[in-house]
Amino acid sequence: MQRCLDIDEQAAAGRFPARPFRVRHGLADSPLFELPRLVELGRTLSPEHVEYNLGELDVHQDPDSVPGNGLSVEETIERIGQCRSWLVLKYVERDPAYRALLEGCMTEFHDWAGRTLGPMKDMMAFVFITSPGSVTPFHFDPELNFLLQIRGDKTMHAFDEADRELLPETRLEQQYVDPSTHRNLPFEPHYQERAESFHLQPGEGVYMPVHAPHWVQNGDQVSVSFSITCRSAQSQRRARLYALNGRLRKAGLRPSPVGASPWRDAVKDTAWRVYCKARSLAGG
Ligand SMILES: [Fe+2]
Repeated sequence: MQRCLDIDEQAAAGRFPARPFRVRHGLADSPLFELPRLVELGRTLSPEHVEYNLGELDVHQDPDSVPGNGLSVEETIERIGQCRSWLVLKYVERDPAYRALLEGCMTEFHDWAGRTLGPMKDMMAFVFITSPGSVTPFHFDPELNFLLQIRGDKTMHAFDEADRELLPETRLEQQYVDPSTHRNLPFEPHYQERAESFHLQPGEGVYMPVHAPHWVQNGDQVSVSFSITCRSAQSQRRARLYALNGRLRKAGLRPSPVGASPWRDAVKDTAWRVYCKARSLAGG
């Protein structure tokens, strides 16, 4: 039986979990990613779980001025070859067929990475359907992620998750104090020199570490990609620390950056968990 996710030890060596690396996958021929099936999937999702717009955006796109495409979800998917659009179907694991793919991939990932990351939580799946030339602007995600290319080609430009010029400590804190903050980040042309670029064709994919900023350029064909994400015990601990640091900073303090002092992180994490537990027991 073909594996869902094929992690090459050599490709991952010295990179996991903090740096991106190439993977292969066995999903490119699945009928679940043919356009008529994706139209059907789009119909079953609630409107807030489908995001779409014109696709020829700037890398540094302001999220408040993204142009719409004037079409319905179904029209956008059916005309994706011509309508110059970018569309994502979110939380597609709610459909049992897509959930099975997600679980197949994540079980294989957990078998490989569980000893490093601990249990996986909050597994989610997304399908990106994009017109030739579309751009996903520069952003970061709070989950660890595999982008698996199904149809067409695209290039993932990935950046160091520890580069605090690209992703300042205060921006990370903001994301965890207010998770509704938009994911896009400012981008300067000279940042591109720091990118590690992964050109992906069907059957290929890339592992993206938690918080690693990235932007994506479609090739000259219609692209379909399956993105699977999860959180780990380690990423959830970092999320708690950023949320606490953000609150401390709002209170006028200058907290040490997450990761700078293991003992301070341990004390803060314990204190924050005790505080949250006490609040929840008190009904707060
Ligand atoms: Fe992303």
